[in-house]
Amino acid sequence: MNESQKEEEKQILLYSECFPLNENKERIKVKPISQVHKLLSGIQIDPNKIYYKPLGPEHFEEVKNLHKEWFPIDYPEEIFANILLHNQGNYVTQAAFYFIEGENKEVILGLIMCEWRYVDKFFFEFVGDNILEEINKSIDYEEEVQFFLSKQKFYTSNYILSLGVIDECRKMNIGTNLIKFTFNYAISVPFCVGVFLNVIVDNFSGKKFYEKNGLICSNRLKDFYVIEDKKYDSDVYVRIFDREKKNLAKKYYNSFLNWKQNLFRLFILKPFYFFVKLFLIFCLCRCFKRKIKYD
Ligand SMILES: CC(C)(COP(=O)(O)OP(=O)(O)OC[C@H]1O[C@@H](n2cnc3c(N)ncnc32)[C@H](O)[C@@H]1OP(=O)(O)O)[C@@H](O)C(=O)NCCC(=O)NCCS
Repeated sequence: MNESQKEEEKQILLYSECFPLNENKERIKVKPISQVHKLLSGIQIDPNKIYYKPLGPEHFEEVKNLHKEWFPIDYPEEIFANILLHNQGNYVTQAAFYFIEGENKEVILGLIMCEWRYVDKFFFEFVGDNILEEINKSIDYEEEVQFFLSKQKFYTSNYILSLGVIDECRKMNIGTNLIKFTFNYAISVPFCVGVFLNVIVDNFSGKKFYEKNGLICSNRLKDFYVIEDKKYDSDVYVRIFDREKKNLAKKYYNSFLNWKQNLFRLFILKPFYFFVKLFLIFCLCRCFKRKIKYD
């Protein structure tokens, strides 16, 4: 292989910091397997023509291949099938697309896939207890009352399963637009406290990206990833939505007590105060009337 062939070979390798560093502290690179790279070659992307929409069943193969390029994990095919082929409402996806006119084809430039998860014991094990206080502050009173009046048993959270942008389109704000979509979507869902995700500890650009987008590292999970028989730690990043504050932690740990307290507050205390106020107004009015009469 001559120098120019070697150079060419080097150029088509893809880079993702989700792949761990090897013994020489170099990042493992992968060969492209998804369609988008070939279709985009020689094309100058116009950022104004990038558009966003959810993924569908027709993107199954390409999404699978993009994941192989971005992540060193062997995702079972079943996961993609569940999300893209028979999503029963538990997943949310969004992707950045570009239409290549010459080819009459649309390509995926980046994507995000998320899953709804309960805020339960496992959630706290994941994100770490130090996030409790944040969550405490994030629930507002009105929501809490609604929560107790509804049949909902758990608060929810949005877990980012994967987020990636193709090499050719990085640093064009696509990742930011995708994660902002997730924030806006999740914040609009009643009883959703926030968004969280895992990232391999030495994915420095990924971590910087998440920090820039308002997530904080709340926990480190030991040996979370197993990549080619080697174990790697994971950092958990979380963004708890900033709302009017109330107390989820108390609710989580003493849910029965809280349930009773809230019902008591709603049906006994509030009506009681209302009638006391009414009675006082009535008494004042009477006093005032009498005073006018005697004057
Ligand atoms: C992480 C990733 C999704 C970022 O997507 P992107 O579209 O390039 O990100 P944006 O253009 O929206 O960047 C927003 C901010 O993130 C940070 N950032 C993004 N890429 C970075 C890099 N390579 N190095 C340092 N900071 C980076 C910067 O602060 C940037 O803001 P700036 O441009 O004002 O400096 C993309 O690099 C990627 O797909 N990586 C491979 C897969 C991966 O690591 N996924 C995340 C872990 S699950």
